[in-house]
Amino acid sequence: MKTATFRIWRGNSQGGKYQDYTAEVSEGMVVLDAIHQIQAKDANDLACRWNCKAGKCGSCSAEVNGIPRLMCMTRLSQIPLEQPITIEPMKAFPIVRDLATDVSWNFRVKKKIKPFKPRAPDAPDGTWRMAQADIDRVQEFRKCIECFLCQDVCHVLREHYKHEEFIGPRFLVYVAALEMHPLDIEDRLAELKQAHGIGYCNITKCCTKVCP
Ligand code: SF4
Ligand code: SF4
Ligand code: FES
Repeated sequence: MKTATFRIWRGNSQGGKYQDYTAEVSEGMVVLDAIHQIQAKDANDLACRWNCKAGKCGSCSAEVNGIPRLMCMTRLSQIPLEQPITIEPMKAFPIVRDLATDVSWNFRVKKKIKPFKPRAPDAPDGTWRMAQADIDRVQEFRKCIECFLCQDVCHVLREHYKHEEFIGPRFLVYVAALEMHPLDIEDRLAELKQAHGIGYCNITKCCTKVCP
């Protein structure tokens, strides 16, 4: 049986260090499988967050060899296994423990964005009519699983910690979805510039690259 070394960051908000663990590698395995194996065998107290193991819930976000990724969607066959594989928590958010970070800042940001405000109903029975083309246009923005990998990679948050001034790519997408909604009549454009810091984005598109 083939084995690989996983160099996992262990610690809490006070500090921590990398620790090496060995896991057996078999066909079709993803990083999260290796983490589960290590938890079962050598480190019962290793903290990590996951739920669906299918790239849907957005909770298993971490950094694999320095790149923000969903652990459940990162196949071991995609990573070189000859050298230790580094697994660390996301850097843009405060550490809770080991691989678990506190992403609650994102939910506070979301609350600051003006909510969906539909126009008055189109028909006397209180219903609306929308063109299919208008629905199709916003589909892509509505696929977000709130894994926050894009927030993690964005240098405005990751390196410059502008969390108070910049809402980050996830919420630029969220605002876009609301603004392009065929029924919405709210205007969020002035706010995007003034309060949400859109000017900090220099369109490097690193966020697009890591989005699952
Ligand atoms: S394009 Fe670059 S600067 Fe703009 S939100 Fe994405 S990662 Fe951040
Ligand atoms: S936009 Fe993509 S990377 Fe960002 S939170 Fe949504 S799914 Fe994750
Ligand atoms: S466990 Fe749900 S996205 Fe990875």
